[in-house]
Amino acid sequence: MDRKNIITQTEQFVKEKLAGDSSGHDWWHIYRVKKLAAKIGEIEKADLFIIEMAALLHDIADHKFHNGNHKLGPKIVYDWCTKLQLEEKICLHISEIVAQVSFKGGNVETPMNTLEGKVVQDADRLDAIGAIGIARTFAYGGNKNHPMYDPAIKPEMHDSFDNYKKSKGTTINHFYEKLLLLKSRLNTNTAKKIAKERHTFMEEFLERFYKEWEGIS
Ligand code: NI
Repeated sequence: MDRKNIITQTEQFVKEKLAGDSSGHDWWHIYRVKKLAAKIGEIEKADLFIIEMAALLHDIADHKFHNGNHKLGPKIVYDWCTKLQLEEKICLHISEIVAQVSFKGGNVETPMNTLEGKVVQDADRLDAIGAIGIARTFAYGGNKNHPMYDPAIKPEMHDSFDNYKKSKGTTINHFYEKLLLLKSRLNTNTAKKIAKERHTFMEEFLERFYKEWEGIS
């Protein structure tokens, strides 16, 4: 099977798996991450086939929706790549990226071993900030029944993945616990450049949010 065909089949597979998601991890998140990852990957001279496959498959079984099981995603990805008769080396590379891609808490390191992994992680993180990031965060908070904002609940820096997963904070706190940290957690220079404008937009959003909350403007 040629690579274009493999990508098309994988798109179909992912669309079926993620159909009906309303938590911000739907097909269109995958679509955006794939596009952005391909753009960054081209500038960074990475392997675009690996990037597109890993971007497509990166949220196939996100731990957030499988009781914290983070081994399931990489296993599904490995099996899918094997079914497509991709080389063992390629299957391992793609499933390794999926295993390592997630943000796991403000003080938890999430190293990526390969340039392709770094690019996909960057694209996924960029989709969590800016206007889209804001929209997704509120969609996710609603899906999880988190309060939008409560001035009495303060943000926390999570120093373990378990504590981060258990967090029951507000959606506004999520900006401090994740979104505003992402700018300094990017791997490639290309992604860092893209992040600047998105980051500033979130800061402006928060400023307005607090003003409107207190009826100041
Ligand atoms: Ni994602």
